Amino acid sequence: MTENAPTLASDLVSALTTPAGGSTGPSARRTTGPARVVVDLDLPGATISRHLYGHFAEHLGRCIYGGFFVGEDSEIPNTRGIRDDVVAALRALHIPNLRWPGGCFADEYHWKDGIGPRDQRPRMVNSHWGDVVEDNSFGTHEFLDLVELLGTEAYVNGNVGSGTVQEMSEWIEYLTRADDSPMAALRRANGRDEPWKVPFFGIGNESWGCGGNMRAEDYAALARQYSTFVRDHAGNEVTRIAAGASDGDLAWTESLMRAVTNVEHADGKAGPYQAISLHYYTMSGPWSDKGSATEFTEDEWYLTLARAARAEEHVARHATVMDRYDPHRKVGLVLDEWGTWWNVEPGTNPGFLYQQNTVRDALVAAIHFDGFHRHADRLIMANIAQTVNVLQAMILTDPETGALVLTPTYHVFAMNAGHQDAAALDAHVLLPEESEVVDGRVLPRISASASLRAEEGTALISLSNLDAAEPRTLVLDLRGREVVGHTATVLTGATTAAHNTPEQPEAVAPAPLTDVREHPAGLEVTLPPHSVATVQLQLG
Ligand code: AHR
Repeated sequence: MTENAPTLASDLVSALTTPAGGSTGPSARRTTGPARVVVDLDLPGATISRHLYGHFAEHLGRCIYGGFFVGEDSEIPNTRGIRDDVVAALRALHIPNLRWPGGCFADEYHWKDGIGPRDQRPRMVNSHWGDVVEDNSFGTHEFLDLVELLGTEAYVNGNVGSGTVQEMSEWIEYLTRADDSPMAALRRANGRDEPWKVPFFGIGNESWGCGGNMRAEDYAALARQYSTFVRDHAGNEVTRIAAGASDGDLAWTESLMRAVTNVEHADGKAGPYQAISLHYYTMSGPWSDKGSATEFTEDEWYLTLARAARAEEHVARHATVMDRYDPHRKVGLVLDEWGTWWNVEPGTNPGFLYQQNTVRDALVAAIHFDGFHRHADRLIMANIAQTVNVLQAMILTDPETGALVLTPTYHVFAMNAGHQDAAALDAHVLLPEESEVVDGRVLPRISASASLRAEEGTALISLSNLDAAEPRTLVLDLRGREVVGHTATVLTGATTAAHNTPEQPEAVAPAPLTDVREHPAGLEVTLPPHSVATVQLQLG
């Protein structure tokens, strides 16, 4: 965390966003009838950017090497060294963007070491992640090749902590310039004629910590300077993302907002950076003992879900600070690292952050997305950490056999894909019981969100039953439009800790939800315990 003292704005935000009783976030209203989720289908709100379903790939453990990239000589089917099965699985999710090369790694990465003939690339020490030697065989060209194979968009994270302004400036020139400038010529000499599109560029990472241990005001000055030299070349328009706060460090966000220009007026672009990041991880224990991914008590289940719901609280608080400086919402908030962080799997390298992924992780993802949808007016991007083999991954691969497993979290991304670029709809949860307070916050046992695709005449509702043991019947109270059809899908497992392995790859897999009945108010749905569901509506 940073050394910043709380400021007037951060005190004000706490007062504004903390109701009496001390908790924030969505709370379910009480009802005397059955549990209800009320959705006004004719009141579309902000567009849920597809970039809220973004991803993150760092040079960390087996994310890049052995995860995405196995090399051309591997027996695992690959295209120019990139695993075909990983690409196919992620293409099915329509992943909108991929952040690379870190994370903490970004601030010790020198991009020129990762271009040119592979056998001539200098080596370096990956001091943050396992202290291993990085041979730079996966560099700029390999990453942009991966981006093209995935059909996604590039989010390149530059080096402020140990890099130079010139280095960053030359990287964006190398990536995006079309003419015969020095860097464009160097790119051509390395085999790529056409420039790439790079719509997102990070100005360092966690600069309050691994990115340089800076004070907020010092970093804000550097963010202005470095961003200035990340130029828009050849029609490539970059959203520059300043390295933001972690958790509840509102003072850091406030410093960055104070340093941004052209936010007073509705016209023109904010500068020199156009977005600010935020990082928030979910764990059930303290930093020193974050908890096991697969062995947890019922109390830890609820504690984890309450902590997942805090992500929305942090987004709301940072957004309130931003509103104060930027009423026209020209600066985007980017939660470019989120997800569960557990103790590493026993027997694996502690520096590689490899963990299992259970039904609990699926609920954590679903709760995050419900919160993201509610804040789509300020939150323009989010990136789960990390896509393959690290933290809350979509895909786990076996280092011995190469077998690939899709995690419960993968399936939540798939089930929610229809929210991408749809219009958010309010989904009001009304429960007959008083919601319990867990970890200082009210935790309703149902989480929900909804969106509308008006042009297609469809709506998508996401529902989670947080109850570890009990099923829940609820009424979907659907107002404002006629509903002429529906299909529903559910994701759950035999236990809250159920997970997929090469031996049992479908222990947690989506299935049709058949417990959906017509109801005078709309539909009646029964959700199994510890489950995530989506209901797709056809509108008349
Ligand atoms: O995702 C793992 C690490 O968590 C990232 O490298 C860093 O930014 C954060 O502390």
